[in-house]
Amino acid sequence: CRVRHYKFNVVMKNTTRLCSSKPVVTVNGRFPGPTLYAREDDTVLVKVVNHVKYNVSIHWHGIRQLRTGWADGPAYITQCPIQTGQSYVYNFTITGQRGTLLWHAHILWLRATVHGAIVVLPKLGVPYPFPAPHKEFVVVLAEWWKSDTEAVINEALKSGLAPNVSDAHTINGHPGAVSACPSQSGFTLPVESGKTYMLRLINAALNDELFFKIAGHKLTVVEVDAAYVKPFRTDTVLIAPGQTTNVLVTTNKNTGKYLVAASPFMDAPIAVDNMTATATLHYSGALSNSPTTLTTPPPKNATAVANQFTNSLRSLNSKRFPAKVPLTVDHSLFFTVGLGINPCPTCKAGNGSRVVASINNVTFVMPTTALLQAHFFNISGVFTTDFPAKPPHVFNYTGTPPTNLQTRSGTKVYRLAYNSTVELVMQDTGIISPENHPIHLHGFNFFGVGRGVGNYNPKTDPKKFNLVDPVERNTIGAPSGGWVAIRFRADNPGVWFMHCHLEVHTTWGLKMAFLVDNGKGPNESTLPPPSDLPKC
Ligand code: C2O
Repeated sequence: CRVRHYKFNVVMKNTTRLCSSKPVVTVNGRFPGPTLYAREDDTVLVKVVNHVKYNVSIHWHGIRQLRTGWADGPAYITQCPIQTGQSYVYNFTITGQRGTLLWHAHILWLRATVHGAIVVLPKLGVPYPFPAPHKEFVVVLAEWWKSDTEAVINEALKSGLAPNVSDAHTINGHPGAVSACPSQSGFTLPVESGKTYMLRLINAALNDELFFKIAGHKLTVVEVDAAYVKPFRTDTVLIAPGQTTNVLVTTNKNTGKYLVAASPFMDAPIAVDNMTATATLHYSGALSNSPTTLTTPPPKNATAVANQFTNSLRSLNSKRFPAKVPLTVDHSLFFTVGLGINPCPTCKAGNGSRVVASINNVTFVMPTTALLQAHFFNISGVFTTDFPAKPPHVFNYTGTPPTNLQTRSGTKVYRLAYNSTVELVMQDTGIISPENHPIHLHGFNFFGVGRGVGNYNPKTDPKKFNLVDPVERNTIGAPSGGWVAIRFRADNPGVWFMHCHLEVHTTWGLKMAFLVDNGKGPNESTLPPPSDLPKC
């Protein structure tokens, strides 16, 4: 294995989309940012230099960071942010992982434009567990706002109301021609007839789950969140913010141009950016002015399409890649996830109230000292370890909500013994409205052992859990008006953030952290922090 060095300069860059320009925060002046390539077992050193007026931090989403929480990146959770003019070297080893992941800013709303792909290839000489593709493409999906995204969220926090939705979705940085800017061209994927290509799809959007499809071509799903799955064929991929999906596409046409479309999925009565981003699969020999074969994206509320995709996901669970599902449970947790309303006397537009989000009625408050630093150096008064294992009020979570379900605020963590096993059921509540929440856990991969609609039933539902080949991932949807159950082993000491990967929900407080104690063995404790760790 090798040591790979990267330099990420965080700089402002004037960027034109939708026929208008604005300065955006970027890495190395690019949107999306550069792809980080490595192989399984490599050590990666990324020097991040902050040249902008904002504090920044970068998260390597899905990299397990075994014992190296200092390199995980969420601001005020594992590190203080890198201040203007300062730098920090993220130093981590990619242990036992290969596949597609993403990196993104983990502070404020900077990840709108500060994000990019992580491609971890298998160890040299180790093949994929499927026929080698002729070529691979990284395909990053995201959102574009005409206005400044920091202004968008700050305005919403002041008013107490939901922020504006984005003005377009993007495929590798480009929305494609839209009515607001018909002259704008989209991204092109150049292909030859009769080959198999692998697309490494990444949803780096702030707030939107997306459908992805290609006119006239089936997609074979082979991996999600850098874990191999049993291959299956589909017309449409569903991908939530923070998730990644590798698909194989066979170019079974002679020539021509085919539309690639990314469109929103939202099955709740909530405003969403309705724009479809387009790109082109361009066969060699097709003239650039030849017509493009079109496709119709699923309607935004196509729950059945979404469910069919989600229910098809199974771990590969082969001899080489066994699904190591914990079969016993030390910690059995039940978390409600959802939005609610709290009083806010200063919120004029919100009529004296504001939208908040919570887990088990706790709206997480960001500390001003990083939790991992407080834990490692025994600094008291930063967090408490009383995060509730179950909700304080039991009610019909998916029925008529009780009035007056105010949340309390706090910086609470849930403590886990080293190597203990966890079963966590996450139940969506419909207090404002049912809504799907893609929940991301830092520091671990987990198994999605069960999923259902309505209220979770602790007597009957566990009997239906898949403990053989459940999908392994790092970001999973607690479905709209339903629940999802995950299992994982707490084999990574440190402090690990868990939150909804819809950035607006994170901002509102749909987040918490697990504190995993050190074990007793020689390689079972958090390593000491690097000397350049930023100070708050
Ligand atoms: Cu991809 Cu805590 O985020």
